[in-house]
Amino acid sequence: MNPGGEYEDTLLVARREEVASDVVALTLRHPAGRDLPAWEPGAHLDLVLDAGPTRQYSLCGDPADRASWRIAVLRAPAGRGGSARVHDTLTEGSTVRVRGPRNHFALRPAARYLFIAGGIGITPLLPMTAAAEAAGADWRLLYGGRTRASMAFADELASAHGDKVRLVPQDEEGLLDLAPYLTAPAGPGTLVYCCGPEPLLQAAEEACRDWPEGSLRTERFQPRTDEAGRESGSRAFELVLTRSGLTLTVEPERSVLRTVEAAGVPVLYSCEEGTCGTCETDVVEGEVDHHDSVLTDEERASGETMMICVSRCRGPRLVLDL
Ligand code: FES
Repeated sequence: MNPGGEYEDTLLVARREEVASDVVALTLRHPAGRDLPAWEPGAHLDLVLDAGPTRQYSLCGDPADRASWRIAVLRAPAGRGGSARVHDTLTEGSTVRVRGPRNHFALRPAARYLFIAGGIGITPLLPMTAAAEAAGADWRLLYGGRTRASMAFADELASAHGDKVRLVPQDEEGLLDLAPYLTAPAGPGTLVYCCGPEPLLQAAEEACRDWPEGSLRTERFQPRTDEAGRESGSRAFELVLTRSGLTLTVEPERSVLRTVEAAGVPVLYSCEEGTCGTCETDVVEGEVDHHDSVLTDEERASGETMMICVSRCRGPRLVLDL
C-alpha cells in the first residue's frame, strides 16, 4: 500500500504478445507469485514508468484470475512518450511499477447493454462483454478501428460471440455510424458503455442526449475537449483541510493539488489533467467547479468528491477531507 492507501508494487512482465498492429498485450504477475488485488470490469492501472510519465491502462484480462493482470497498449506516435516506453522497454522478464487498480467506469447491472469501442478503447469493454455474457444480459458490441489488423482482440470477440459483435474497420466500411443504434433508447434498462477517441465519445454523447439520465457511461484517457478549453482559476479562494487543520489560499493560477502539496500535506496524484481519478478527494463543504473528465453528471451534482488537480471552487471557501 502507498500513503494514499492504494496497492503499489513492482510486477514482472510474464508475457508479451502482439495482439494487433502497434498493440502489445502484457501479462503482469507478482515476482513472488502472490495474488494481486481484486478488480472489476472497467478498472484501470497506473504504470509508473522509470524517468517517464505515469500512464493509465485498462485491465482487459479475467477478473477471476488473481495471479495475473493483463493490459494492452497502443503505440501512440503522437503521444507523450508513455506508450513508446512500454513498447520499447517492457519485454518478458522485465519489471514495472504499478499502482491501483482504480475504477471510474464500473459496469452497473442492466438487462441490456450496448458497448461501443473505438480502437484501443476496446480494452475496458473486453471484460465487460464477458461479464454481461456471464450474467445472461442481452448485449451488443460495436467496434470500430482504422483497419481490421489494427483492431486488438477483434477475431477472438467475433468468433466467441458471433453476431453480438459488429466489427467496423474504417478502410472497409467507413466510420462507425452510431445513429442506427442510438437514435432511440433501445428499451428500458439499456446501458451504453463507450470508450475510444474523443470524436466517438462526443458522437455517443450527442446521440444519447434524449436517453434517460445515466444511460451512457464513457471512459476518457485524454481530457474532455470542452473542459480543456474552459477558463479556470481566475479567482483565489480559501481552502480548509479538516484533517490537517490547515487553512490555505488557492491562488488564481495554482491548482488545489499544488496548493495542498506545497503546504506539506501528502496527496496522491498521477495525470494532473483530470482523467485518471487518482487525486479524487472528499468534499466537506463548498460548491465545486468541476473540470475533470472522470465524474458523471450525477456525481458532479452530488458535490461529494472532486479531482483536486483540475477542479476548483465556485465560491469563496472550500473545505476538504484532507
Ligand atoms: S491526478 Fe489524475 S485526475 Fe487528478
